[in-house]
Amino acid sequence: MSKIRLRREADLPGCALALKAVYATNGYPVYGVGDAIGFLQTDDTAWVAENMNGEITGHISLFKASPSDVAVAMWWQLHPQKEQPIAVLGRLFVHPEARGGGIANKLMQTALDEAQRRGQRLVMFALANVPDAIRMYHRLGWEHFGTTIFRWKGDAGEELEMDAQCFASPVSADKR
Ligand SMILES: CC(C)(COP(=O)(O)OP(=O)(O)OC[C@H]1O[C@@H](n2cnc3c(N)ncnc32)[C@H](O)[C@@H]1OP(=O)(O)O)[C@@H](O)C(=O)NCCC(=O)NCCS
Repeated sequence: MSKIRLRREADLPGCALALKAVYATNGYPVYGVGDAIGFLQTDDTAWVAENMNGEITGHISLFKASPSDVAVAMWWQLHPQKEQPIAVLGRLFVHPEARGGGIANKLMQTALDEAQRRGQRLVMFALANVPDAIRMYHRLGWEHFGTTIFRWKGDAGEELEMDAQCFASPVSADKR
C-alpha cells in the first residue's frame, strides 16, 4: 500500500534512489541519473507515493507550460489561439518493485484533479524507449496528438535524439 502526498524537499534523496532503480530497469530518464535531484526539480507541483516503511515508491510532477517543451510547442502549433490553459505532466515513475498495483494511476489522477481544479488541460510526451508508458497513456484515454523528435546532449556532449509521442489529458472526467 502506498499513499500519495505532496512532495517535500526532504523527499528528494528518496526520490533520487527510486529514480536510480527505474533507470537501471527502463533507461528512464534518457539523460541518466548523474544529476537525479536536478532532474526532479520543477517550477510547479510534485507528488510522491510513499509505502508503509516511509520509502518513496513513485513520483509525478507538474510543470508550467513553456515552448521549450516539445509537447507544448506542438500543442500550441495545433491550437494557436491558446484557448485553453495547459500545464505539463512529467517525471512520472514507479519503483520497479512497486509496479502493477495502481500507483501510477493514483499519481496521474492526483495531478489531473489539481489541473482540473485550475481549469488546465495537461500535455506530456513519452519517448520511444518507454513503450509500457505509451501503452498506459493510450489505455487511460489520453489523446495522442502527434509525434515529434526530442533532442538532448549525451555525456560526451554528442547530439542524441528519439521519437517523442505527445499526449493530452482526456477531456471527459469519466475517461480518466
Ligand atoms: C509506466 C509506469 C509509471 C506504470 O506504473 P504502475 O504503477 O505499474 O502503473 P499502474 O499499476 O498504476 O497501472 C496504470 C495503468 O497502466 C497499465 N499498465 C501499467 N503497466 C503497463 C504495462 N507494462 N503495459 C501495459 N499497460 C500497463 C495498467 O494496466 C493500468 O491500466 P488500467 O487501470 O486500465 O488497468 C511504470 O512502469 C514506470 O515507472 N515505468 C518507467 C518510467 C516511465 O516509463 N515513466 C513514464 C515516462 S513518460
